[in-house]
Amino acid sequence: MESAKLQYRPSRSSHRSPNRNSSKSKSRIFCYTSIVFIIAFLCYVFVFSSHVRFSVKRKYGIVIDGGSTGTRIHVFEYEVRNGVPVYDFGDKGLVSMRVNPGLSAYAEEPEMASESVGKLVEFGKQNVPQEYWSSTEIRLMATAGMRLLDSGVQEKILEVCRGVLRDSGLKFMDDWASVISGSDEGLYAWVIANYALGTLGSDPLQTTGIIELGGASAQVTFVSNEPMPPEYSRTIKFRNFTYRIYSHSLLQFGQNVAFDLLLESLVARGHHQAPESVKLMDPCSPKGYPHNLMSLKLSPSSLSDRTRHLSSLYPSGNFSECRSASLSLLQKDKESCPYKSCYIGSTFMPKLQGNFLATENFFYTSRVHIHLVIMPMC
Ligand SMILES: *[C@@H]1O[C@H](CO)[C@@H](O)[C@H](O)[C@H]1NC(C)=O
Ligand SMILES: *[C@@H]1O[C@H](CO)[C@@H](O)[C@H](O)[C@H]1NC(C)=O
Repeated sequence: MESAKLQYRPSRSSHRSPNRNSSKSKSRIFCYTSIVFIIAFLCYVFVFSSHVRFSVKRKYGIVIDGGSTGTRIHVFEYEVRNGVPVYDFGDKGLVSMRVNPGLSAYAEEPEMASESVGKLVEFGKQNVPQEYWSSTEIRLMATAGMRLLDSGVQEKILEVCRGVLRDSGLKFMDDWASVISGSDEGLYAWVIANYALGTLGSDPLQTTGIIELGGASAQVTFVSNEPMPPEYSRTIKFRNFTYRIYSHSLLQFGQNVAFDLLLESLVARGHHQAPESVKLMDPCSPKGYPHNLMSLKLSPSSLSDRTRHLSSLYPSGNFSECRSASLSLLQKDKESCPYKSCYIGSTFMPKLQGNFLATENFFYTSRVHIHLVIMPMC
């Protein structure tokens, strides 16, 4: 705009001698005024169009979340404003779909994973306009169901998934499909929850911690100012703040796997204490509850264990007994705690501080049984 001002000066100087040639001077004023207007207009067009071209850009991103009981796809539509992605997690900005069972169910026949990932990719492409396909990144992150498998088997299943993603026409690189660490899983949950709550970028003590109960693992992630062993500690810098975060995933403490372990421990304890003829009690299932093995959606190997355990247990629905059996499961290996304090088994955990969100299976369970509203995290 400085150039427009400079251009205006000569027209003022022309006023110094208005009488010499009035009509010539008028036409000059007209001419200068026109130039000023044209320059102002060009400035406006440049500023406006650069705003459209560089400052707000529509984009899509796809994440496939490979959990232990199912595989979910999330398609995000978002804007990049001045280089900063802005997400809207409402109906327009996010669509999701799920297939069962989870990727870990294909341990025996990895090539079968391609069909379920193929279905998800089709859904993804239906929700992204075709002209955006080649610029839309698709990533696959698998969690505890896969972590429980041997690394060779994990890699075979991932390679099948990569084949499908490479052929999808979406933007993909091989290392975008991986089994992520439990610490990263917890950290991502924490970041997204605090982003959605508007607390990412504010005082660390105002942030909200996450307790996430998955199918095969449970994540605990929160800001702590206690000293922490480095393997449990993560640091994130965002805007003016540095967040020191405890993040840990308790493998086998997801809802389904923990329940299996509980039944296993009841059977083991029972066989130790009582003669074979005595029926063993399962205090954590309601009396008369028929366990539907097909609805458990776990991997075939754990299904056979389940059948064995469930068929030898009688559901007795006793809260206090269930509670004490669960607590002793949580205390297992406590004697080998190498830290000052271990809340669960031999896992280090600082004192819980601040607000927490209980997500995933806590949400689904509470929605069914108690009608509490807690935030869902898929
Ligand atoms: C962050 O720091 C900058 C520069 O020191 C400052 O201008 C800004 O107000 C700070 N923002 C917040 C949210 O504290
Ligand atoms: C549950 O188990 C406890 C301890 O074994 C027992 O004292 C209590 O009576 C049981 N409750 C019911 C409702 O059966």
